[in-house]
Amino acid sequence: MSFSRRAFVKTLGVGGAAALSGAYIPRAYDLPSFWTPALLAQEGPLLLHNNENPLGPGDKVLNAIREHIAPDGASVGRYPFQLMRNLVQAIAQRFDVQPGNVILGTGSTQVLRTAVMRYTSSSKPLVTATPTYEECTQYAQLLGHAVVEVGLNDRLMLDLDEMAEAAKGAGMVFLNNPNNPTATVYPADEINGCIDKILTASPDTRILVDEAYHDYVTDPRHETQIPHAVQNNRILAARTFSKAHGMAGLRTGYGIAHEDMIGELREFHSGNTVNTPGIIAGSISILDIQRLNEESARNTEARQYTIDWFKNAGFDATDSQTNFIFVKTGMNAQEFRDGNRENGVLVGRNFPPYEEEWARISIGTLEQMEQATESFAKVLRVNATAAA
Ligand SMILES: Cc1ncc(COP(=O)(O)O)c(C=O)c1O
Repeated sequence: MSFSRRAFVKTLGVGGAAALSGAYIPRAYDLPSFWTPALLAQEGPLLLHNNENPLGPGDKVLNAIREHIAPDGASVGRYPFQLMRNLVQAIAQRFDVQPGNVILGTGSTQVLRTAVMRYTSSSKPLVTATPTYEECTQYAQLLGHAVVEVGLNDRLMLDLDEMAEAAKGAGMVFLNNPNNPTATVYPADEINGCIDKILTASPDTRILVDEAYHDYVTDPRHETQIPHAVQNNRILAARTFSKAHGMAGLRTGYGIAHEDMIGELREFHSGNTVNTPGIIAGSISILDIQRLNEESARNTEARQYTIDWFKNAGFDATDSQTNFIFVKTGMNAQEFRDGNRENGVLVGRNFPPYEEEWARISIGTLEQMEQATESFAKVLRVNATAAA
């Protein structure tokens, strides 16, 4: 369809939109509850709810996948054992570590789950924050393992002192830095201080540092935990290709740790779950630093535009170091979400205990954010032009 979504949102009401032909109409069993008639009639809603990369990977990656599969597709008839070794080698090269320091996963989700299964139990709790990325919490609960949740501090950051205190006797501590959904990051010295405290005070506890959004951080005080992880056999750093690498649909992630820890994880890890296109893509993308830098710069510009828009409209936001923002809209998150959904814009879920006033919004392209802010203005009843 040639019309822009901006024009579309402005000109069509909920009922009118459904009359347009040529739109993709999902079958009934495809329909999650957020699909309204207005959304169904569009070329697609603006997807600002899952912290995805709006552009996907670059040409180098796409061409590598095409070349590998062409001309006859025979290569995907094979298990990708050698290709997996190539990806491990590329990751090791990128971070100057050994292949034995790397574990692959179907997204970093698989690495997170393996770590929860391996290191926590009904008597050795997972210590985590609330709110933070929920995967570890939910998986521990599913397994019947103990979970201790620590609230954020008044700056909406992980409460590192409380988490270190709660870590005594725990199986594993989950530190999401930057933290999803609050988008905040800790500088290296503070996160290192917390890790040192845990290592000293609780000799059997492992620490999982999830750095899914590392490539979007612009605060120069932030540092990766990868160098510590390869030195200390109780720290695991998790990374993903789903965010800045633009490969969420290719389901590839990895963990980096001391080789003893990798060995412990492998005992519980299903090792043959990654797929050929994801491996080929990851092997190219991990070494394409220029593309990553460009993606980070693109995100920073769109992120700054969106934060400035909210600030000019009188709304506060945390200092985002990610491809999403956490904004104090002052409106119930469900209400904000429903209002935007009616305008064809999907934003993040509820994040208790902040759901009465805060919303998480993923960052799309600059053009998409310009469109989205028109919707935000309508829902929050502010003047969009004045805010811009
Ligand atoms: C902090 C964090 N970790 C891990 C993931 C999972 O990513 P994936 O399994 O796609 O690698 C996400 C997804 O949004 C996330 O926000």
